[in-house]
Amino acid sequence: MKQQWTQDNLTSLQSSILAEEQKHPGATGEFTWILSAISLATKAIGNKVRCARIQDVIGDIGEQNIQGETQQKLDVIANEIILRCLGDRDNIGILASEENETPFLLRKRTDGGKYAVLFDPLDGSLNIDSSVGVGTIFSVLRLSDLGSREEAMLRPGVEQVAAGYVLYGSSTVLVLTTGNGVDMFVLDHAIGSFVLVSKGLKIPSENKTYSINEAYTNKFSDNIQSYLRWAHENEYSSRYIGSMVADVHRILLKGGVFLYPPTDTKPEGKLRLMYEANPMAMIIEQAGGKAVAGGERILEIKPDGLHQRTGVILGSIDQVDAVLQH
Ligand code: AHG
Ligand code: MN
Ligand code: MN
Repeated sequence: MKQQWTQDNLTSLQSSILAEEQKHPGATGEFTWILSAISLATKAIGNKVRCARIQDVIGDIGEQNIQGETQQKLDVIANEIILRCLGDRDNIGILASEENETPFLLRKRTDGGKYAVLFDPLDGSLNIDSSVGVGTIFSVLRLSDLGSREEAMLRPGVEQVAAGYVLYGSSTVLVLTTGNGVDMFVLDHAIGSFVLVSKGLKIPSENKTYSINEAYTNKFSDNIQSYLRWAHENEYSSRYIGSMVADVHRILLKGGVFLYPPTDTKPEGKLRLMYEANPMAMIIEQAGGKAVAGGERILEIKPDGLHQRTGVILGSIDQVDAVLQH
């Protein structure tokens, strides 16, 4: 009989990852080392996001980043927090951020730099000022010995060894996959730990909800416009927050389809392959969903550059297929 006064949940992120590592013979615990740095960094970022208006770190810094987008103060702060927390992890060879033109080549493979961590330090940052959910997205690749350092990192998404995001919303939620399903943790501020709340998440099907910025409808391809007309005639509902992490998290839990297709002004699409589309695609596929760019599986795209963009259509298989049928 479960005592009512016991803490409901005490499986922490660390213990959950260590349990997972036990399943891999020869696991060295260095994976936990990286994920614990991500846990620390995102707790610190979440605190900054919650206090943004009090500490007057909302708004932009008056400069553009490498993406040609106005950099928000919190983009810079979140980036610095992650670089500091991950920078001293001696098994990380490369750190690559949406906010930095070139990756940080920390240590060679031969000096122990086994992994590359790529990240969007603050996703949806234009929503910060209105207290709408924003997040951090991360992707972990094991570095091969091949080629130059940057080449070693430009690997297709199928090679990710882990992917996840933290959503700073009404609660701080960490969603993680290491290739064996998707687990969800919530930050319990009372004990300062991410605690496991769901294991083996599966994306629900048959939810007739699409998530797209309809302001660009006239700029989308004919087949996307045809899909939207069909959806309007078939009792679909629409939900769009404008933070990829928040939109994808809703789809992971409720089903539906998220689309950020190419437009005539952004023919490559807006979202970045290496640290937005790939990690989200791995999570969605691990939860039994589908993630494509046009007709191609996102995880099989061979990257040419760290900041390359791609179209994104992801969600439950039935809802993604409903898009592809137009
Ligand atoms: P970021 O804040 O990291 O630049 O990402 C913003 C992205 C993504 O979060 C979201 O899905 C998309 O921009 C929204 O773009 P629109 O405002 O063009 O709809
Ligand atoms: Mn982003
Ligand atoms: Mn960002």
